[in-house]
Amino acid sequence: MKQVVLASYASGNPKPSDFRVEDAPIPQPGEGEVLLRTLWLGLDPLIRFAIDEKRLSGVTQVHPGEVMYGPTVSAVVASNHPGYAVGDVVEDRTGWREYAVVAPDKADWRGPPRKLDPALAPVSTALGALGMPGQTAHACVIGIGRVAAGETVVISAAAGAVGSLAGQIARIRGARVVGIAGGPDKCRGLLGLGFDAAADYKAPDFAEQLAKALPEGADVFIDNVGGEVMLAVLPHLKRGARMPVCGFIAYYGMGMEGPGPDKLPGFFRAIMSKGLEIKGFGGFLVGGQQALDDIAGWIAEGRIRCPESVVEGLEAAPEAFAGVFSGNSHLGKLLVKVSG
Ligand SMILES: NC(=O)c1ccc[n+]([C@@H]2O[C@H](COP(=O)([O-])OP(=O)(O)OC[C@H]3O[C@@H](n4cnc5c(N)ncnc54)[C@H](OP(=O)(O)O)[C@@H]3O)[C@@H](O)[C@H]2O)c1
Repeated sequence: MKQVVLASYASGNPKPSDFRVEDAPIPQPGEGEVLLRTLWLGLDPLIRFAIDEKRLSGVTQVHPGEVMYGPTVSAVVASNHPGYAVGDVVEDRTGWREYAVVAPDKADWRGPPRKLDPALAPVSTALGALGMPGQTAHACVIGIGRVAAGETVVISAAAGAVGSLAGQIARIRGARVVGIAGGPDKCRGLLGLGFDAAADYKAPDFAEQLAKALPEGADVFIDNVGGEVMLAVLPHLKRGARMPVCGFIAYYGMGMEGPGPDKLPGFFRAIMSKGLEIKGFGGFLVGGQQALDDIAGWIAEGRIRCPESVVEGLEAAPEAFAGVFSGNSHLGKLLVKVSG
């Protein structure tokens, strides 16, 4: 089978050369174990946390030569565990490889492989709307953002898995939603998902686009990015605005200190003078099962769409993962189709 290992710790944003594709024997399941064939691999930006030489945040660390970490949807192809049968489809975190053996009774705090119901929705959605990104989007809007009808919500990295869902959930809550994304195609995609307005942060007139989209300011800023995009939004936040800090992808390659200049003084000025309510959180934990139930209901009612962008084959994973940080055209959840 093929597997992707970390070639060297990442420095800055991930590059395809940080990874290496290898051949390896297909593992065999022992007592109480299950053999999984990977169908889908999700390329979450948070995987970047696992490949720093020094662990800065996150719970998983991958060292050079080890198989890359990552969430997957897989088919059970052999089972020595009474809870799993050949043909079951499960979601787990088996990494960037074509086959994996798991021991459900020895699972970590995130739990054993989650059995999926293919009748509910395409199984790939377990890595997007009906999985951790969906739980995170729900948490951004409801658990942490407390978005109410009539409010205005602005979302950075809005065309990504979390942002595209968060915007649709905020619309269901009765809010006006403005998305920020890179490039006219992504901005058009946001309008197609029902966002009220979109601003292209890569356009020279981004500041004007943002001002036009937020004439009354914003009550909630769901930030996935940090950096210059976040600084551009701050002046538009109303007094007491809530700011769920979902992610800070602009800084993921920087460790603990950026190259400067130091923009923290302006950030703190906005926090204090506007009385901002800023909160970080783990979407998987805050969203929980309630998020999955709500989103499944909205999908069934046709109120939520789950855009996916798919790259084919495990070998494509390194380049696709690097593209998340350096520019790509994906709308919604970015997936690798590992096998059919
Ligand atoms: N708190 C949690 O539990 C939790 C859970 C899941 C995800 N997250 C975080 O939430 C964020 C979104 O995740 P996702 O799964 O939606 O990711 P995604 O689908 O991969 O989308 C990420 C997008 O971020 C944008 N981006 C990348 N670098 C950027 C930069 N320097 N400046 C501005 N935009 C940039 C890119 O879109 P453009 O083409 O528009 O630039 C990219 O496609 C990430 O920060 C992720 O780590 C947090």
